[in-house]
Amino acid sequence: MTALLAVEGLSVTFPSPHGGKLTAVDGVDLLLQAGEVVGLIGESGCGKSTLARTIVRLHQPSAGRILFEGQDVGALGGRDLRAYRKRVQYIFQDPYSSLNPRYSVRQTLVEALTVAGLHRGAAQVSRTEELVGLVGLPLSSLDTLPSALSGGQRQRVAIARALALEPRVLICDEPVSALDVSIRAQIMNLLLQLQRDFNLAYLFIGHDLPLVRRIADRIAVMYLGAVVEEAPSDRLFEAASHPYTRALIAATPTADPELERTRSRVLLSGELPRATDIPSGCRFHPRCPEAFERCPVEIPKRTLVEQGHVSYCHLSEESRVEGGLRVG
Ligand SMILES: Nc1ncnc2c1ncn2[C@@H]1O[C@H](COP(=O)(O)OP(=O)(O)O)[C@@H](O)[C@H]1O
Ligand SMILES: [Mg+2]
Repeated sequence: MTALLAVEGLSVTFPSPHGGKLTAVDGVDLLLQAGEVVGLIGESGCGKSTLARTIVRLHQPSAGRILFEGQDVGALGGRDLRAYRKRVQYIFQDPYSSLNPRYSVRQTLVEALTVAGLHRGAAQVSRTEELVGLVGLPLSSLDTLPSALSGGQRQRVAIARALALEPRVLICDEPVSALDVSIRAQIMNLLLQLQRDFNLAYLFIGHDLPLVRRIADRIAVMYLGAVVEEAPSDRLFEAASHPYTRALIAATPTADPELERTRSRVLLSGELPRATDIPSGCRFHPRCPEAFERCPVEIPKRTLVEQGHVSYCHLSEESRVEGGLRVG
């Protein structure tokens, strides 16, 4: 089956401010099927947004490619590129800067429809009314400027504008991180509802792990530009294989104060290395509590831990070999 969106060996580099180059994304493979929600997690600066922005052609890959329905996105031009830009929509973290402050909600939606060549005249009017309804805003909001809306309402408008183009994929780049904690759940529920109603595929970037777990079918963990583990959401939390994933999960505060006091934390030691200076071998080895001789010298291979669960770690490789020998 052809994936809806396939990221293959994707790398993205930037010129470093101190000379040389900075590798923000380093050989990432990722698949997104129609109607699937893939979560993307990892510390700030690990390349999540760069990966996402490259998918919508805001950055150029330095290696690898992106396929949409089997077609190389980098080779699209003219009408095909315009079609792709409708199919894959981006929801930014900050709804304050993503809307034109001089446009009413109606103007924002009409502009999106007009640029996309969708609907005209009366049909456009009814479509804008339908769109605000879909995102839970009252009809009266159509004549409102962004400055009169709350953060949550603005994010609803940004979502309506994305939906206007009848997308197949929404790239959600920390869509609730900038919002008040009290309204995050409302926007998450809206995204879940829309995903089901329209069978949308999401690439959902977030740093609130329980929240990503709730929405995602599958989660990929990024570290210093590379995916280090990928698993069905529940399996990632129940049986993380990569020491980085385990540290990331252990560092997540829980709502349970008792658990907070008693659990043993696997804390991340040392600082996140710079993307201009990616460590040799396994890029996580300088911070890994389980590093051994192979780690600084050999790049870990993609290892299948269980169905749908891959890890890039020498320990996973070795335990697989041992397991195989025991069984054999
Ligand atoms: N436009 C850019 N120019 C130069 N460096 C960038 C640019 N965008 C991101 N970076 C760098 O790329 C790395 C990854 O950043 P980013 O993708 O924003 O990470 P994340 O979204 O995971 O926090 C960081 O080191 C960041 O400083
Ligand atoms: Mg980001």
